[in-house]
This record gives sequence, C-alpha cells and structure tokens, in this order.
Amino acid sequence: GTVRSSLIEPDGGALVELVVPEAERAARRAEASRLPVVRIGPVDLEWVHVVADGWASPLRGFMREAEYLQSLHFRSLRLADGSVVNMSLPIVLAIGDEEKEAIGKAPDVALTSPGGDFVAILRRIEIYKHNKEERIARTWGTIAPGLPYVEEVITRAGNWLIGGDLEVLEPIKYNDGLDHYRLSPRELRKEFDKREADAVFAFQLRNPVHNGHALLMNDTRRHLLDMGYKNPILLLHPLGGFTKADDVPLSVRMEQHSKVLEDGVLDPKTTIVAIFPSPMHYAGPTEVQWHAKARINAGANFYIVGRDPAGMSHPTEKRDLYNPDHGKKVLSMAPGLEKLNILPFKVAAYDTVGKKMSFFDPSRAQDFLFISGTKMRTYARNGENPPEGFMCPGGWNVLVNYYQCLQNE
Ligand code: ADX
Repeated sequence: GTVRSSLIEPDGGALVELVVPEAERAARRAEASRLPVVRIGPVDLEWVHVVADGWASPLRGFMREAEYLQSLHFRSLRLADGSVVNMSLPIVLAIGDEEKEAIGKAPDVALTSPGGDFVAILRRIEIYKHNKEERIARTWGTIAPGLPYVEEVITRAGNWLIGGDLEVLEPIKYNDGLDHYRLSPRELRKEFDKREADAVFAFQLRNPVHNGHALLMNDTRRHLLDMGYKNPILLLHPLGGFTKADDVPLSVRMEQHSKVLEDGVLDPKTTIVAIFPSPMHYAGPTEVQWHAKARINAGANFYIVGRDPAGMSHPTEKRDLYNPDHGKKVLSMAPGLEKLNILPFKVAAYDTVGKKMSFFDPSRAQDFLFISGTKMRTYARNGENPPEGFMCPGGWNVLVNYYQCLQNE
C-alpha cells in the first residue's frame, strides 16, 4: 500500500500541478499556436519553472492584481478558507504597450521562450499597470541605482503586468548538464520519504560552501539528533536562477559542492543536493521569507538562517544594504511561516587561534578574520591559499580554477 508521508504539508494543503499531462500536450500546443503570443525573457522562464514546479504553491501562475497587491503590501496571500500563506516577492510577468495592444480582449495568451518555443498558456488573463518605482521601493526598501535584479530585469521590462493561470506545455529543461539536480518539490518529497526522513533541514545558498556554512549545517544536525530525531536529512539547496555578475556561476558552485561532499565536510549519506530554480532578488529580509516558504513546499520543516541572508553591499554606499541580523529576526516572526522551525545562527568567521571557522566571539574579536567573497577572489587570483581550515582543499581548487580562468579572459 501507499506509505503516508509524515513530511510538513505544502502551503495550501496540496502542491499545484501545472504541467499539462503528456496525452494532452499536442492539443494544447495546437491551441497555443492560435493564441496571441507573449515572448518572455530568460528570467521570466525561470519564474515559469518555479511556479510550474510548485515552489510558490498554492500560486497557480503569474500574479493578477489582487495577488500582486497582497504580496507587495502584506507579503502574504489570503486563501479561500481564510488561512494565510507567506508570499514576500511579487511573481509577475511584464509586457509592453504593443503586446498589450496585440492581446486586445483575448482571455488567454501563449508564452514563448527566448528561443521562440511555445512554453505555456496563460489563462483568464488580467492586465494592469506596472508601477516599477513602487514595486522596487516596496520590494527592496530603496530605489538606489545598481540593484542587480532591478537593472537586469525590471528596468528593461514593459509598463504592464499580465497575470493568469499557467498551463505549462512540458517540463522546463536547461540542457546544461545540471537538469538532474533540478528536483521539483514533489520529487524531493518522494526522495525524503524514500529515505524515511523524520526531519528535513534546508540550507539555501548562492555562494561556495566554506567551513562556516558547514558549521551551521553540522550543528543543526547535532541539534536535531539531540531533540530526538532519528534520521534528519539535509537539503543542500543552491539557488540556480539569475544571480549578479560577480557571484560564482552555478556550474562552478555545483562542482564545488560535490567536492565538499567528497571531502567529507558534509555527510553524503544524510544530504541531498538539489538546485532551487528561483532567480535571486538580493532583497534581504524580504527575500529570505520567499526562500523559506518555497522549502516548506519541498518538505523542509527546519530552515537554517545565518548572517545577512539574501543580502548584498549597498550599491552606492560603503555598508551592507540591510541590517545583517534582520533576516533571521524577520523570518522568526513572518506571517504564514509559523509551521516552519527557524534555526537562527550567529555569524561564523575564521578563528586565527583555533585555526578553523567558528562562531564569532566578540570578547576576542581581534582573533577573528572575516573572509568575504572579494577576499576569496583575491586569494584565488594571486594563487594564494586561504588560511587552513577555511575551506576543504578540493572545494578550494574548483574556485582557484574558476577565478584564474576569469583572469585570463
Ligand atoms: S544567500 O543569498 O543564499 O543567503 P549565502 O550563500 O552567502 O547567501 O548564504 C547562505 C546562508 O548562510 C544564509 O542563511 C546566510 O545567512 C548564511 N551565512 C553565510 N555566511 C555566513 C557566515 N559567515 N556566518 C553565518 N551565516 C552565514
């Protein structure tokens, strides 16, 4: 018989299913070819993937105005039964004046990929004004120039938003050799059940894994075992969508993560590595809620959060854009995330006395070294090694190769 899953329930009770069943695909494709067409960009396609997989469940498509306003103003959505789910980022599709004109009064449109292939049908559409300034200010808390997602995506986008229900014509693939890592929430749940996980703890990241990250993950595992869990499984979950130009590319990070498991920094027997297909906003405490909410849908009931999650430097001033402690504070209080156990961590840094990554101890601040991405890059470029115990040698080699190739370009 079927084993009843003991995993945390997805938001809204059941994961949405938005990919058209195989038997109906030919008919749907034929229908798509008769509809007004909206050609979407690469980041829009990532959002189609995210929604189709059910990461944003119970959201069924790009937001109509009512969902957009709830997301922007309440960072959550109210469901028909009165319950509230977290939804801190607007998931929207922009179009231009000519596209709006061409759609006219049509109820449905076809979405085509940047390459021109039919991707999806968007049903019962609603078109409304895209007030970019308001969207940016409310999402990031600033309209300072230089926000990566704003410059690369929003500024170039059209002045209208088009919402509707998605019917995706086939599963989204990237053909980059990494598709087998792109497990959907449904596939991850199956895997956790197969492994008989009694707790699932998620770690979102967009950077290479250093031993400070590993400290958070291994500490969590110990904590869960102390709590009485018998088989906690770690979801090591690098973000795979849009990132800023100076972040390490996904393919390099995946190779680095493999080495971290090979070198035994994390235990391969109790870890699942998969790619989270979402694009990155760098919206700090607002975005970390999205990161956490999406992992509930994949079956995670514990979520690790450390220093400055989803943060970056201020684009024009010499400071962090967000208070580095606000991410974990906000996450612990966020509406719609009550059922998720948040595991907040202090900042980890290199302890020059212990010669390893440790939690920062302010009483001996002078012993600690903060190794930023920029510093890592400088070490790698100059062929220097970071201090021993910062990162496993296999993982470090991957970065050295990457940064040295970059330099030779
Ligand atoms: S993020 O954009 O995915 O949040 P990153 O990959 O740097 O960026 O971080 C992954 C997770 O590790 C986040 O929860 C972040 O808060 C945490 N983290 C990163 N560096 C540190 C550190 N030095 N000390 C504690 N936590 C950290």
